[in-house]
Amino acid sequence: MIKDIQQEILKLKKEKNAVILAHSYQAREIIEIADETGDSYALSVAAKKYDCESFIMCGVHFMAETVKILSPDKKVYLAKKGTGCPMAEQMDKEMIMRMREKEPDRKVVAYINTTADLKTVCDVCVTSSTAVKICKAIDSEKLLFIPDKNLGAYVRQQLPDKDIMTLQGGCPVHGAVPLSALEEAKSEHPNALVLVHPECSPDIYSRADYIGSTSGIMNFAKNSDAKEFIIGTETSIAEHLQYECPDKEFYPLSKMLICPNMKLTTLMDVHKTLMDIGKENGRAFEIIMSDELISKAKVCIDEMIRLGG
Ligand code: 13P
Ligand code: SF4
Repeated sequence: MIKDIQQEILKLKKEKNAVILAHSYQAREIIEIADETGDSYALSVAAKKYDCESFIMCGVHFMAETVKILSPDKKVYLAKKGTGCPMAEQMDKEMIMRMREKEPDRKVVAYINTTADLKTVCDVCVTSSTAVKICKAIDSEKLLFIPDKNLGAYVRQQLPDKDIMTLQGGCPVHGAVPLSALEEAKSEHPNALVLVHPECSPDIYSRADYIGSTSGIMNFAKNSDAKEFIIGTETSIAEHLQYECPDKEFYPLSKMLICPNMKLTTLMDVHKTLMDIGKENGRAFEIIMSDELISKAKVCIDEMIRLGG
């Protein structure tokens, strides 16, 4: 049954000249039919290379917005309406404008997990895989890093010469993992290497063997000679790695590391979206943004690609 739907999706996407982008936190059956998979950075730059009519993003809303900003002439659909990232909506434009007035000599660095509206008042975007490189390259010693205080603290640790200010924000999934989860996982699997996403708390990542983005963690595990790994990011990554490296063992750091928004999209949502592309009042959820919003938000995404490329 799943295989039949996957076959139909592959046929439909050819007929409709559509490209499917899937964040690595998506379910296995979606990853299998995607044209591009990866972390936030990989997806945002990969989309630019396609000469297609439309993109279907299997992920969360800010990711689809990023694709639309970089490919404004294409139609961009979010496979499941209502999949938001709570962290992306934690801060609003007015709050950051007030901070800019108080701290006029700080450049504002926005994690890509922010709304397009918020990006319009920021100087540069970063992703977890490019944050240190980009913050190092910015021509300012004073930065305000929003919204993730944990990722911001990690960048601060890596770049002690910069004055990096953070605010109270972060991922409610990664940030909620308690130190006791790490202690339990380590006592159950004493030989496993610990690989952690920097959205987790510093208490956790400071005890890790490797700290990195989703793709960083996957690449580290695939290329390592070690046989056992505790995976400190969304549980889907431990699952995907287990398929890709059947001779190794992967243990989720915590059962709580499940992003409810990333889990909402189903294979049938991708199917419905493809079926209804171009239909009036259909089920395909198109990302609509004004030209003004696109051009203002694009400034800090272009800067991310310039400094991170
Ligand atoms: P990356 O994909 O950049 O590693 O970020 C993880 C995440 O939480 C995405 O929302
Ligand atoms: Fe947002 Fe966290 Fe989910 Fe990523 S894992 S989409 S940062 S809530």
